[in-house]
Formats: sequence, structure tokens, C-alpha cells
Amino acid sequence: MTKRVAILISGGGSNMVALADSMTGGHPARPCLVLSNNAGAGGLEKAAARGIPTAVVDHRPFGKDRPAFEAELTRVLDAAQPDIICFAGFMRVLTEGFVARWHGKMLNIHPSLLPKYRGLHTHARAIEAGDAQHGCTVHEVTPELDGGPILGQAELQILPDDTPESLAARVLPLEHRLYPEALRRFATGDRSRFTLT
Ligand code: GAR
Repeated sequence: MTKRVAILISGGGSNMVALADSMTGGHPARPCLVLSNNAGAGGLEKAAARGIPTAVVDHRPFGKDRPAFEAELTRVLDAAQPDIICFAGFMRVLTEGFVARWHGKMLNIHPSLLPKYRGLHTHARAIEAGDAQHGCTVHEVTPELDGGPILGQAELQILPDDTPESLAARVLPLEHRLYPEALRRFATGDRSRFTLT
């Protein structure tokens, strides 16, 4: 049966576009919802232009009450009945309660070669550390931030004159190849780890 995929975004949504555009033809999944915590997220228009239902759950009215924000997220997600939830640049930290609700169904893309550089400013941190390699990772979401089982990675070389910006600009196209491949495998039940070549 075709899997229903909800994609959560906070910004431009270029990974969401890559995922949505990959789910055609014989692909085992289809997008059912693009949800943002930010009404100004550029990705919302891109989703609507593709005929994908969109929703906004703004985190700001909830202040520090994360469980209340997540209860509203859950209500909107439940209505869309997703089999898989893809976090694609969704910049909110989630509580254990939320993560438990969707255990085994959530993927995230992170712009580093995990387990290196969980959290923010990954490109700057890789350069500062003098790393030769950098890249991106798709992993399952668990309560540990950026710490769930790794599904796939894509690597590149850091160049001597790379800046955080130039590195980010070279990692992003890799993300756009990695995430659709990881989703396709996951949707067929394949959780074995792969490296994009
Ligand atoms: C991507 O680089 C993604 O890996 C990163 O945000 C960007 C979103 O871009 N995610 C994180 O840093 C998560 N901690 P997009 O909106 O164009 O897909």
C-alpha cells in the first residue's frame, strides 16, 4: 500500500521539494501534508504549487509550553494520517512525548556526518576542526537530538578555501540526492545503512 508522508519544514523547503518531487510513478509513497511552524516559510508556497495540502502550527503563541505546541502538531498530523514523517529543516527541538508518539516513523536530515556535529553551525564546526570530509546524514528520529539510527550519508571533501557558506552550498545538493533515496528505501521497509556514491 502506498505510504503517506508528512513533511515538516521551517524555511525554504528545498529538501521538501526534493522529497515531494521524488514521490511519483512507482514510488512507494506520496506526500500528504507539508507542515510548518513558521507561516512565512517559503516552502509552504512551493508545496501548495505542487497541490500538497499545507498547514501552519506557529510555536510562538505557546511560549515555553512545548507539550502544548506538540499537542497541536499532533492534532494536525493525526488528521493527515501519515505513515512517515520527514523533518526537512524543521528547526524545533521535540520532547520525548512527541517522539514516542511517532516512534519508528520519523526521518530527519542533518547537515553533518553524524555522529559528528549534532545541533547547529555544523559547517563552521567542521571547518574549525580541520576536517577533510563533511557531508550530510539522514537518520531516524529518537528523543536524543540528532542521535537516532543512521540510515544514509553522503560525503564531500572540504576545500582549503571553504567558508561555512560555500560548504553549505555544496552540501545542500547532496542533501537533495540523499534524502529522497533514504525515504524511498525507508518506505519499502529497508532500514539498512547506505552511503550515497
Ligand atoms: C538543510 O540544510 C537541513 O539539513 C538543515 O536545514 C536546512 C534546511 O534547508 N537542517 C538542520 O540543520 C536540522 N538541524 P531547506 O529548508 O532548504 O530544506
